Amino acid sequence: MAPDAPRTLPALGHGHARVDGPLKVSGTARYSSDYHFPGLLYAVPVGATIASGEVAAIDDSAAAAMPGVRKVYTRANIGRFYKPGKSGYIDEARPPLDDDTIHYYGQYVAMVVADTFEQATAAARAVKVSYRNVTAPDVRMQLNAEEKQTTDSERGNVDTALASAPVTVDQTYTTPPETHNPIELHASVATWDGKAFTLYETTQSIINHRDVMAQMLGVPKENVRIVTEFLGSGFGGKLWPWPHALLAAAAARDLGKPVKLVVTRQMMFHNVGHRTNTQQRMRLGATHDGKLVALRQDFLYRTSRTDHSKEDCGEVTAFLYSTPNLKITSGRARRDIAPNTAMRGPGAVPGLFAVESAMDELALALKIDPVELRLRNEPAIDESTSLPFSSRHMKECLTEGAARFGWARRNPGIGAMRADGKVIGWGVAGCAWMAQRLDAEVSLLLNADGSVRVASGTQDIGTGTYTMLAQMVAHDLGIAMDRIQVVIGDSALPPGPLSGGSMVTGSLVPAVAQATGKAVEQLLETAAGHGAFANARADQLTFTEGRVHRKEEPAASGVPFEQVLGDARLAHVEGKGKSRNTFGDAEAKKFSMHSYGVHFVEVTWEPAIARLRVSRVVTAIDAGRILNPMTGRNQIEGAIAMGVGMALFEETQYEPRHGKAINSNLADYVMTTHADAPQIDVLFLDYPDTKLNALGARGIGEIGLAGFAAAVTNAVHHATGVRVRDLPVKIEQLL
Ligand code: MOS
Repeated sequence: MAPDAPRTLPALGHGHARVDGPLKVSGTARYSSDYHFPGLLYAVPVGATIASGEVAAIDDSAAAAMPGVRKVYTRANIGRFYKPGKSGYIDEARPPLDDDTIHYYGQYVAMVVADTFEQATAAARAVKVSYRNVTAPDVRMQLNAEEKQTTDSERGNVDTALASAPVTVDQTYTTPPETHNPIELHASVATWDGKAFTLYETTQSIINHRDVMAQMLGVPKENVRIVTEFLGSGFGGKLWPWPHALLAAAAARDLGKPVKLVVTRQMMFHNVGHRTNTQQRMRLGATHDGKLVALRQDFLYRTSRTDHSKEDCGEVTAFLYSTPNLKITSGRARRDIAPNTAMRGPGAVPGLFAVESAMDELALALKIDPVELRLRNEPAIDESTSLPFSSRHMKECLTEGAARFGWARRNPGIGAMRADGKVIGWGVAGCAWMAQRLDAEVSLLLNADGSVRVASGTQDIGTGTYTMLAQMVAHDLGIAMDRIQVVIGDSALPPGPLSGGSMVTGSLVPAVAQATGKAVEQLLETAAGHGAFANARADQLTFTEGRVHRKEEPAASGVPFEQVLGDARLAHVEGKGKSRNTFGDAEAKKFSMHSYGVHFVEVTWEPAIARLRVSRVVTAIDAGRILNPMTGRNQIEGAIAMGVGMALFEETQYEPRHGKAINSNLADYVMTTHADAPQIDVLFLDYPDTKLNALGARGIGEIGLAGFAAAVTNAVHHATGVRVRDLPVKIEQLL
């Protein structure tokens, strides 16, 4: 860990428990569905029970007559929704109840609003929907390039190089659909005051949500306020708005009452996105001494009929290894399924399963250690763009991680390692994830009561944004964390970054620094010429650890900022910070900016009882400077738990008759539990990437999941000799 200057020691680079932790563990943190207002009504949508066809008629007479029912909404009476246009991002762009066509099982066709949730639920079941032109849905997993393939990246001549390569691998890998299952269900609580909406939402992007809702509801942005104080996580499923939010808002406006709509766990398998399945053919060519000469990735993924969220499996492939010849192509296959969306590490996560499995197969074919093979193919620059890396320490991830794991003791023989009567398998895989910044605005108040308020229209999905903001301010001002109040989760605040792409922390760094700098400037202007500083100009003053003092005098001799403000009878001084995204930043575009890492995984296999477990993990991460090693480690640990699920358990299954996700509950959709979690050791290299921001901090929310499943299947192969190319690993494949 790079030591901080003494002044900043408490703020950055040291573990701080989450500042919002006490609110969460005491049950006082308010999540969207916790909001309650007098006269609140409950909305329950009705989903289609076919996946392809049309609504013929809806008979709501029985439902409308049931106790407590206020109104049954259908296409006939919901009112008008507009299309999103260019207002922002949305994966399901078709407005709800837009026409009679059914594109997927569970698509909303009606909605009941009643006095209680139970009444609304009962009435929703009594709504009778009949269909016409029903066809057997196509929900096949098997993918063929029905739609034109596009070339996503190309250099050299990959096919010629593959044809003449001394050693090749040519294999196809598949990953199944996965459904986001954050603990917190999606929810909307909508209020309308006759002119403006306040919407309490489960969203990873309050600003985008506001912009899209304003457009689709047909009101000015100023008349939509989104509040998301806390999120029980999202994993990408809450990045973009979903139809239920529009339905709740429309009902609130129509009835003039607050309306709550909580999406059930079952609905979450159809109505709020999922990670789609992928099929990737990997072709690798190498020389006998393990130098890659060709890498080709042709991937396919499923999408809905109506929308197009690309699962970009080639996201990190083109710059991961050095090879003169490379080609990446993609193609989509439309099916009668609900729109897919981003899930933690979209693209790179399924993509790296294929790339890092194929690298392991190549290492075996070459009889070269898989760590060594990766070391031999480390690129000097980003060969896909010819740009230098801003900061890349993949080699150190490989060597340091290997040392920590004890990789040198690995016997490469299949099933050759045993402990406690179990077969041991060791596997390795690398990972990468983008490092970028989004636009960010921050307001910072130095208050007359000695507190500091930092505010930004961003949100905390549970990763620690509240804590990170407090730490940055504490660092920049040199004052204690407990004097800093963090205000986020309200679109009325200066617009902040969305919680996606692991970009929040990196985006906020420059805006916070600017805001604190400007607030201090204001404070020094206020202090100059008054009281203790009667004879001083502002440029002769400075600010250290909460005190204003003359530059040549020690900080301890200074005046606390609250006293300066009190003397001037000012409630506060404000500093505003505004920083721009990297996507359009010429300086940032001179570098290839990404985070890197390597997973070392141990599995244990007990053939007599067919028990496979991931027992031990060492993950080395190169994500720039780690601002908080405690919350940082939590991110990687959580990603590894999710990675165990991806490797061994998670798979959304669609039955072919109705196109329904049949394991749409937490009993049948198997996820990692605490009992499945391995021993996890996280090693942060902690090299600041100052090309991204002054503190050198990149994001860490997603990278821990990337590559992990391949490290598991590579370990499974080492233990059992069985190469699993279709996730998740099922024990029957190993028998
Ligand atoms: Mo993440 S899939 O960028 O929320």
